[in-house]
Order: sequence, then C-alpha cells, then structure tokens
Amino acid sequence: MSNLFFGKLNRREFLKLGAAAGLGTVFPRPGNLTHGKNPYIDKTLIEFKVPPIDPVRIGFVGVGGMGSAHVRNFLKIEGVEIRAVCDIVEKKVALIQEWVVEAGQTKPRGYSRGEWDFLRLCEQEDLDLVFTATPWRWHVPVCVAAMKAGKHATTEIPAAVSLDECWELVETAEKTRRHCLMMENCCYDRPEMLCLNLVKKGLLGEIFHAEAGYLHDLREVKFSGHGESLWRPAHSIKRNGNLYPTHGLGPVSQCMDINRGDRFDYLVSMSSKSMGLNLYAAKKFGPDSPEARQRYTLGDVNVSLIHTVKGKIITLYHDTSSPRPYSRIHIVQGTKGIFEKYPNRVHIEGRSPEHKWEELENYMEFDHPIWKQLEEKSKGAGHGGIDFIEDFRLIEALRNGMPTDFDVYDAASWSVVSALSERSVAKRSNPVDFPDFTRGKWRFPRKLHVMEVE
Ligand SMILES: NC(=O)c1ccc[n+]([C@@H]2O[C@H](COP(=O)([O-])OP(=O)(O)OC[C@H]3O[C@@H](n4cnc5c(N)ncnc54)[C@H](O)[C@@H]3O)[C@@H](O)[C@H]2O)c1
Repeated sequence: MSNLFFGKLNRREFLKLGAAAGLGTVFPRPGNLTHGKNPYIDKTLIEFKVPPIDPVRIGFVGVGGMGSAHVRNFLKIEGVEIRAVCDIVEKKVALIQEWVVEAGQTKPRGYSRGEWDFLRLCEQEDLDLVFTATPWRWHVPVCVAAMKAGKHATTEIPAAVSLDECWELVETAEKTRRHCLMMENCCYDRPEMLCLNLVKKGLLGEIFHAEAGYLHDLREVKFSGHGESLWRPAHSIKRNGNLYPTHGLGPVSQCMDINRGDRFDYLVSMSSKSMGLNLYAAKKFGPDSPEARQRYTLGDVNVSLIHTVKGKIITLYHDTSSPRPYSRIHIVQGTKGIFEKYPNRVHIEGRSPEHKWEELENYMEFDHPIWKQLEEKSKGAGHGGIDFIEDFRLIEALRNGMPTDFDVYDAASWSVVSALSERSVAKRSNPVDFPDFTRGKWRFPRKLHVMEVE
C-alpha cells in the first residue's frame, strides 16, 4: 500500500500501525478507494439530516472565552435549552449556571471533576448536542465521546490536530450517524459572504486562485498568564506548520466548491525561522526568563500552497508571533475579476474602471441575505456578530431537520492542513497528499445551504 501519511506500508504493517494507534476498525483510507470495498462507502454523511429537534438540548464542554460567548448567544436563540456545563474550573461552571438561570431556564447540571469529566456529561445527560470550546487537544475526545453516546457534536476550531484525529471524527460520525461539525465563524463574516455571493452569481468568473490566512499578533495572548496562554504556547513550542488554518481556508473553500465538485489534492509548506516569541518574552519577562530561553519550534511565518484536483491553488499564511495588524487576506480570483479583503475591494472586468479597484460599497446589492436577516439580532455578539450568526444557523438547521452549513468532511479537510503542513515543513517542503475524507463523493457538485437563504 502506498500512502503518503504512513509512508510505504504493506497491509500487515498498516494494520499493526492502526492497532497501535488505537484506530479500532481499520480499513484502507485515503484517495484511491473503489466503491464497495469500504464498509463506510454507502454511509456518507453528505447532505445528512436528522428529524427536526425542538428544543435543542445542549451540553457545553469548555466555557472559557469562546465557550461562554457561545452560551450567551444560545441564551438568545429560541428553541435552545442549556442542560449541562462542564469545565475543569468549577467557578466557570457556576457562572454559566447563573447565566442560564437568569435567562429563565432550569439550572444546568455542572461537571468539573477534572479533564475527563465530559465523559460523565456525555453518558449521563439526555442531550441533543454537545458543544466543545476546549483547548485543541480535547476537541476530538469530546466530539467522539458525544457521538458514541448518541449526541450530535460541534467543536470550535480547528476540529482536530492530527491526521488520525481527522479520520476518527469522520469514521465516528459515519458509524454513529450523528452530525459532527466545526464552527468556522469566519465563513459568516459580511465581506466573505458578499464575496461568496459574487462567486456563486458568476461575477468573478471561474475561480482558480485564492490567498488566505490567519495573521494575528498573538504574542500578548500567548504570554498573558490566563486563558489561551495556558495551552496555546505548547503548540508553538512543539509544532511547526500552519497551526490555525480554518479561519482563512473555510471561506475560500466555499468559494472553490471544496468537497462539492473539487477537493484539496496536495500541499507544500515552508516556515521561516522563529524569533518573535523569544524577542517578546525577553522584553516582557527579561532575557533570562524561562519564556525567553525557551526554544519555540513554530516558525514566525508559515506559508502553505494547496493545489486542488481541478487545478485551483490557494496560498495560506499563518503568522501569530510578530508585530502586525490583523488580517485573513481573503483574496478570491476568477477569470472575470478579483475580490480582496483587508482592505475590502473588488475589480470586475467590464464593470470596474480598467486596472482599478472599486470600493466594496459599490457592491452592496450583493450583500448576502443572511446579513439582512440577522444583522439586528447579531448586534453586540462576538467578532462583529458572526458568532451569533453561526450559532443561529446551527440551531435553525437542527430545528428544521435540515443539513447543517458545514459537515464532518469540511471539518476534517480544513483542519488536516495543520498536520499536513507540519509534515511538509519537516521534509524540506515536500508535497504531501490530502486524504479524500469524502471517499469519492466530493465529485458531486452541490449547493451550499447558506446560499439557499433568500
Ligand atoms: N472561532 C473563533 O473566532 C475563536 C476565537 C477564540 C478561540 N477559538 C477556539 O475556541 C477554543 C477555546 O478557546 P478559548 O479562547 O475559549 O480558550 P480558553 O482557554 O479561554 O477556554 C478554554 C476552556 O476550556 C476549559 N478546559 C480545558 N480543558 C478542559 C477539559 N478537558 N474539559 C473541560 N474543560 C476544559 C478551560 O478551563 C477553559 O475554560 C479553541 O479551540 C480556540 O481555537 C475560536
């Protein structure tokens, strides 16, 4: 068997590896599978829906910065009951319980007996959905436990850290017939949605190139002494690649019909050297502090180039350790024109003055209908309202028995870039193949459900 993720293995070695990795049922995975050989081939979750759920009873795992923001949103959305809350910090659980009671709901049961207490929540509670906003290493264990206990699962980004974890999500969702999705709020940002509208209406022509990324000076966050600083720096110490790919990649994937007529084929990735965290720590804590003397593996800038099966390319950046203003770039380019965010601007041949950008304001007729529908309701919610919109869309899909805006294949394909970029960086930027998590179903064009909103 030739498989880029496990190198060249024969079947016996592959099975041994699977058993050692605790993969459970082992079967050939990526790419070249033929119909009928794979036990899950007919069990695709593409366009998956379940009978309407109303109310949607939710259990939360991890209620720090992002988890608590989601709780606040859900308390404003009709048809949601927050039944259980889990966090390793007891007082965070107590605070959420207070909020839920203040909102007029019954006090949710609390779980705070350590890092694995979410298992009790999943097993004991009668819930429809488990929502996790824990540090990255817990996303897959929580989602898998939830699905195995019969609950649908949603996770904050990225859905998974390793390639095996991505498969574990896909396989568990398919086996248990549960929704499993990653909440990529940036797909709902207004300019991204307007751009998506331009693309789907054909104004940019055939899309062949995008540039995106996560360029966010997180030096203060990584050394703040609370919140993400308790877990995020560990990734900068140990890993080198694009550790946070989905904010940039999600929205451009939607413009490029990824898993809906095209799929990621291979990537190459390169990282610069690492300097920013040491320099920052030396200034903040002194040159002899443990933080300043620590070796950080993560290069200050990582650039990955993704090629799709249908010949599109994406340049994807990760840059979290340097002084710089925030950007996700979001350039989407087609045969008729180009869209760019940071700053927002558009050029469409025949419509824009030749060789000149136009302001986005000239294109407000293409504002996505979701923004007209939810602008008022989303005011005041996190990240300019997009966190509310993503939560609202999830609940709307579940209450109406509709497919969700993203599925487990999106979660796996967007998140796996971390693991694959690490592998490419470690091998002098060698190309690394993407697995086909859809097992061939990516070939079928289908509409994004978010484009059905009128
Ligand atoms: N979509 C976005 O815009 C966005 C923004 C920020 C963070 N995030 C994501 O949200 C997730 C959480 O980030 P955050 O900023 O809220 O971090 P945080 O550190 O503020 O919150 C994490 C919470 O999880 C709790 N926790 C840790 N291990 C746990 C376990 N085993 N069981 C239960 N609780 C546990 C912590 O006590 C903490 O309250 C991350 O995946 C991050 O990438 C997304």
